[in-house]
Amino acid sequence: MVNINYKTWLSALKIIPGGNMLISKRPPDSLIKKYPIYFSKCDGSYIWDLNGKKYLDMFLMGVGTNILGYNNKEVNRAVQKVVKTGNISSLNSIEDLKLAKELVKINNWADMVKFARTGGEANTIAVRIARAYSKKDLIAFCGYHGWHDWYLSANLSNKKNLDTHLFPNLRSSGVPKNLKNTSIAFNFNDSDGLRKIIKKFKNKISAIKLEIQRSKPPSIKFIKTIKDIQKKQKILIIVDECTSGFRETFGGLYKKFNIRPDIVIFGKSLGNGYPITAIIGKKKVMKFAEKSFISSTFWTDRIGTSAALETLKIMKKKKELDQNFQSREKNKKRMEKDSQIKQYTDRSDRIRCYAKI
Ligand SMILES: Cc1ncc(COP(=O)(O)O)c(C=O)c1O
Repeated sequence: MVNINYKTWLSALKIIPGGNMLISKRPPDSLIKKYPIYFSKCDGSYIWDLNGKKYLDMFLMGVGTNILGYNNKEVNRAVQKVVKTGNISSLNSIEDLKLAKELVKINNWADMVKFARTGGEANTIAVRIARAYSKKDLIAFCGYHGWHDWYLSANLSNKKNLDTHLFPNLRSSGVPKNLKNTSIAFNFNDSDGLRKIIKKFKNKISAIKLEIQRSKPPSIKFIKTIKDIQKKQKILIIVDECTSGFRETFGGLYKKFNIRPDIVIFGKSLGNGYPITAIIGKKKVMKFAEKSFISSTFWTDRIGTSAALETLKIMKKKKELDQNFQSREKNKKRMEKDSQIKQYTDRSDRIRCYAKI
């Protein structure tokens, strides 16, 4: 059969720089001619490629967006309802308020909420608010937080600074050179490295920004260090839960490790595939959003917020979510044993796994 998926990719490379909009959905080098690349439909845990071949998506699920499975009927119904009555207008949608209230209920230390539609922009909003509140420019961070200037600027002093933060070889061409040393990267679980940065840039750091966990859990020492710095240095803690949120706990993974963040960011799974991200935080910090211009037309659309309200309702019902995620490691081992499964690893922290049906 003609590999239409691959042919389509070659056409896309000619007209779309990089072939697509997301690094994680570029075909892996080693399997480019076999990898499905494009989907024609998706449902539950299944994906159909352009040839109509069916695959079981055993791990990625939209790179973390579809925690309840693809094409979830209940979430779709909620979205269809607002599509039928209009998803955007000159006026505001009440769903913003409803979702803000819901997120504050789930994370009861937080008082205020802003919304965006992508993880990168939500992270950038959080950084802006932190800088406005603290009147300090520097951000110390570990992990991946999107494509914006504040993040990529960490590579201006050394182009390998971000290599250990999920994606290696991130290029920062086009990021103003003046942003050099405004974002300082430290390695996850490296308490001593973090302390060194705090000492070196004493009284200049606005916030420490991190994912609580990606492939490895945080060490007790690392968690203690974060808490200690937060308390003694009055540095804000921003937890990026774009990927980790709503997986092991109803809310963020910060709950599991007893961290008390000042700002938390949710994305990906919040709308089960419909674009919606949230920045939640304490009032004394969040109100500084009003001191800086943060605004966008499509942040007012109500598809994302309606999808999120329904997703949260379903998640709340499905208490077994916790168990699902505890058994994730067990599942991975079982899948590795299954000879039917085409499996390969393209980065050390992630396994892409598709079984042909
Ligand atoms: C922890 C984390 N933060 C931010 C982002 C960026 O989100 P987006 O791709 O929606 O801009 C990602 C995406 O993978 C992520 O995993």
